[in-house]
Amino acid sequence: MCGIIGYIGSQKALPLLLEALKRLEYRGYDSAGVALLEDGQIMRFRRAGKVRELEEDVRTAATTATTGIGHTRWATHGKPTEDNAHPHVDCSGRIAVVHNGIIENYAALRDRLAAEGHTIRSETDTEVLAHLIEAHLDGDLLAAVRAAVAQAQGAFALAVLSADAPDRLIVARRGSPLVLANDGTGSLVSSDVPALLGRATDVQYLSDNEIAELTRDGFRIFDTSGRRIQRPTHQVTTDPVAIQKAGYKHYMLKEIHEQARAIGETIREKLLPSAASVSLPLVQSRIRRFDHVYLVSCGTAFHASMAAEYLWEGLLPVPIQAMIASEFRVRSPHLSSRTLVVAVSQSGETIDTLMALRHARERGAQVIALVNNEQSAIDREADASVYTRAGIEIGVAATKTFTAQIAALGLLGIHLGQAHFSLPAARAQEELERLARLPGRVIEALRASDQICEVSERIHRARDVLYLARGSLYPVALEGALKLKEISYIHAEGYPAGEMKHGPIALIDEGTPVVTLLSRGTAYDKVLANIEEVKARNGFTLVVTDAPEEPSLAHLADVVLAVPAAEGISRPILFAIPLQLLAYYIAVQRGTDVDQPRNLAKTVTVE
Ligand code: AGP
Repeated sequence: MCGIIGYIGSQKALPLLLEALKRLEYRGYDSAGVALLEDGQIMRFRRAGKVRELEEDVRTAATTATTGIGHTRWATHGKPTEDNAHPHVDCSGRIAVVHNGIIENYAALRDRLAAEGHTIRSETDTEVLAHLIEAHLDGDLLAAVRAAVAQAQGAFALAVLSADAPDRLIVARRGSPLVLANDGTGSLVSSDVPALLGRATDVQYLSDNEIAELTRDGFRIFDTSGRRIQRPTHQVTTDPVAIQKAGYKHYMLKEIHEQARAIGETIREKLLPSAASVSLPLVQSRIRRFDHVYLVSCGTAFHASMAAEYLWEGLLPVPIQAMIASEFRVRSPHLSSRTLVVAVSQSGETIDTLMALRHARERGAQVIALVNNEQSAIDREADASVYTRAGIEIGVAATKTFTAQIAALGLLGIHLGQAHFSLPAARAQEELERLARLPGRVIEALRASDQICEVSERIHRARDVLYLARGSLYPVALEGALKLKEISYIHAEGYPAGEMKHGPIALIDEGTPVVTLLSRGTAYDKVLANIEEVKARNGFTLVVTDAPEEPSLAHLADVVLAVPAAEGISRPILFAIPLQLLAYYIAVQRGTDVDQPRNLAKTVTVE
């Protein structure tokens, strides 16, 4: 899950490539590089570290090049060093390649190429592509790239620059995203739209097994047999301002504070004017009755799917199961034309979820995509799609997309209940009214930000943190723990509160922070008893609750964080917000890179 950019046009390529790479950096940020076509030669700059460090290196570079490719990396094969940074070149140094994905048979290809006399210089899988193209090059770069990728197994998006074909760039896709545009000064290829914002509004998305040739005037797309194909043009409506920090210290904090709007817009477009029922025309027209549901996803999206599993049990009279996408394919879930699979993903490009979707489709299941990214692969390959309207999320740790996903899943559950299982109108109305009040409640919950910042000072040195909850709040406990792990690097675990005494309680020592979610609506007395058990072992009890007035909290809780009371779909959303803020402020205290935590990337396009 790297970021790729390419440009061929009339403008200076270097500043354009660097600016675009900075906008793609959430996709991977352990090393970066560019290759420019300068006076018939390939000029390459690479380094380990962030794009801004590469920018420092090339600040004085004398280049007038108007063609180039660039890359920001999330290492899969070979450490994040300068030698393993992209672009990689062939033996002659006249072909340069940037790549996102994994070439699964690279070792066999590498050994064969080395036996044929090629000099392999890096530990990466990518470099074999440069040598494969070199091996097939006979004056036609497009044909050479086509022959090379035909031998590559696995997922890839790549861009190729050749000093012997100065008037074009060649790009190819299988599994990893690529978007094309022409901004009037030249043609561009990118892993994602943010790099093109402010430059182009008309874009085309490459599909799997397609190759494109970019020239200054435009681009042509071909399938693997070389047949020319047309792709629909899509309007990019995102305002470039959306990818700025708007005065916040971090994108994550900005995105946490955007949740009222994100949830409001996600709800609004799906509610009929009377707000009495949900309007999902695509789902309505394309999804037939089903008798069991799987929600497949990864990471934070999986926690949103788990919350939906709890919520949908009150809306649909069929078995519902949230499954981790990478496990879905190794298990043997019962799949047939009576199966509904909902693939949940903010990026819509997570390959584990995409492959789970394909696995389900191949076995006859109906598939709904729930994504934040229209025109993503998961969106395009599903039978019907439901969109969260959270806007672009730059912070690697998902926040606004999590709460928007739960809201959208709630609405989808109501819709499916009404459309296929005669969910009583009153029941639907009840949930819809709660959702309509939700954005205001979110703003209320965000008001605890300063208090949470203070609390974080008391626990940011912790070695372990436990999160406990019951019912539909259990997935929120898991999410709170994930957020803390991701950005503060503290070991954190979420558990069903009732499970504590079956083992995890052994982790509690003097002062171990235990975050418990206590709601009047979910096994209240039992959770209070769990807090007692923690207190009895001198744990530090931080209680997030919609019942702050509870008298026993005075002696049980070291800290009480109040959230607005809410029922149904709104409850897990409101309880998530203080946990997001807690993780954020703890990470800030620890001085970690909040927006680009170590070892992570925003979109996971490798299996
Ligand atoms: C969450 O903060 C992480 N970025 C990660 O777990 C993420 O949720 C997961 O990779 C799934 O991504 P998706 O929603 O884009 O499919």
